[in-house]
Amino acid sequence: MSPLIPAIASADYQLLPKFTHKFKWSMPMTNAANQINQSSILFPKMPREYPLVGYAPALLGDPISFLDSIGRLGNSHFEFSLFGKPMFVATSKDQFNECLLVKSKDFGFPDLYKNMATVIGNGITATPDGPYWKKKRLLLQPRFGQRSIESFLKHFVTIAKSNALKIKSNQATPMSVHQLAMDSALKSLFSCLFSKTFDQPNVFEDFRDISAIVGKRFWMPNFIMTSKLSPSGRRLSKHISMLDDLAYSVIDERIANKEEAPEDFLSFLLNSKEPGTENALTHEQIRDELINFIFAGYETTACLLSWALILLSRHQDYLSLARAEALRIGELNSFADFEQCKMIKAILSETLRLYPPVWVMIRQAMVDSEICGTKVKKGSNVLLSPYLLQRQESAWTNANEFNPSRFLTDGTHKAGAYYPFGHGPRHCLGNHFAMSEAIAFVFYIVRDFDIDPVAKLPAPQALITLQPPMDTKIHFHALS
Ligand code: HEM
Repeated sequence: MSPLIPAIASADYQLLPKFTHKFKWSMPMTNAANQINQSSILFPKMPREYPLVGYAPALLGDPISFLDSIGRLGNSHFEFSLFGKPMFVATSKDQFNECLLVKSKDFGFPDLYKNMATVIGNGITATPDGPYWKKKRLLLQPRFGQRSIESFLKHFVTIAKSNALKIKSNQATPMSVHQLAMDSALKSLFSCLFSKTFDQPNVFEDFRDISAIVGKRFWMPNFIMTSKLSPSGRRLSKHISMLDDLAYSVIDERIANKEEAPEDFLSFLLNSKEPGTENALTHEQIRDELINFIFAGYETTACLLSWALILLSRHQDYLSLARAEALRIGELNSFADFEQCKMIKAILSETLRLYPPVWVMIRQAMVDSEICGTKVKKGSNVLLSPYLLQRQESAWTNANEFNPSRFLTDGTHKAGAYYPFGHGPRHCLGNHFAMSEAIAFVFYIVRDFDIDPVAKLPAPQALITLQPPMDTKIHFHALS
């Protein structure tokens, strides 16, 4: 084995040499009200490919710059190697469609995702394609359909209103927008999953740490994910125990108080049968699904909430339009009220276009195949980045411009270059959940508060999800 790989494996990622300065470029800000940062390439060449580790330093060091540089090459696709394995980068909507939908049997669940199972267990997200996954999907999908999540809406509204109260009592000073969003997203998710919220500040820090560690280890060979040789590995193992304790404690508590079981996801799982059998789910299976849903639905939604507020603060015209809509509707009392929030929904859709929380998806060629005429060898990974696709000028008019109206009028998104929730058989189960939660969050903020513009658009941090920095602050002012 190469001496380089164990060196990376045992090191905290932060200790890796900083190769990235070689190909970083500046991201000048423009003052035009409607402009997102436009990158200008100082080093037009691709970052260097190193022996054995390939483009790993580029991808792990600064993934967004790496993707931007690929986008700017304008090639129909791009190939590189990562730890000796070929990686095909899809760059067009047709390639996304072919890989994720049309040839979903050729391009399946990748070994890289199996890494995740060691952290989050064997819930649906980490279950490889096949009959067992399909049965799970059939079991869980109906609970997350557009109308089925109606029972969750009241939780979203309660949390959104408590956010507004919290903001009101803190309005003298600017608040960390991502802290607010993470707090809100975790409370919403916990309320819907098992009707409980936890006021432990450590939980957020633990999750952020998990995301940072897993985000880097995700790309590395399997054995690194669970390695406890480094401090981050030991921290990860502690975090996993924390998650186990949390999940098992809510399961035990619910079983002890069966009579008063609320209508939540935990009750649904406790009353479900193991796919294809008459057996109730084991506690371990229930733990796995709960943890999976926390992983799939927490940070992703928190990122959407944060970026939406950051963008709204910088686009006061859309803030006013969203407020006018919220004032006209008044309160979110029913599914129909949520349905009326067309402007807020458009703002959220545009936020997901520019800052897709899941900035990368991976598939693996199960057989020798082709993507839009280019041969892809069995075993190769395919990298599909909604971030890369959704900012392409060839697919979107003024791609870097924040323009929610495009989701109301011109229908560009229908052209298919828009996959924030994935595509094909494994597309997101929680898309309606996330959008409804985000509508409630934005609704009660824009209705009740003015937001000072965030002076500088923060650069996104590509961990497992595409996050704003924790120190991005927003100053709210209650409207009288
Ligand atoms: C803005 C928020 C969210 C975004 C952007 C998002 C995005 C995605 C994407 C892109 C995938 C597909 C990954 C792939 O194909 O490799 C996915 C899968 C999934 N998402 Fe979401 N998600 C969000 C929120 C949620 C929420 C709130 C839940 C649940 C409460 C959820 C549950 C899931 C599950 C279970 C899967 C795996 C489905 C399967 O493997 O069959 N997501 N999500």
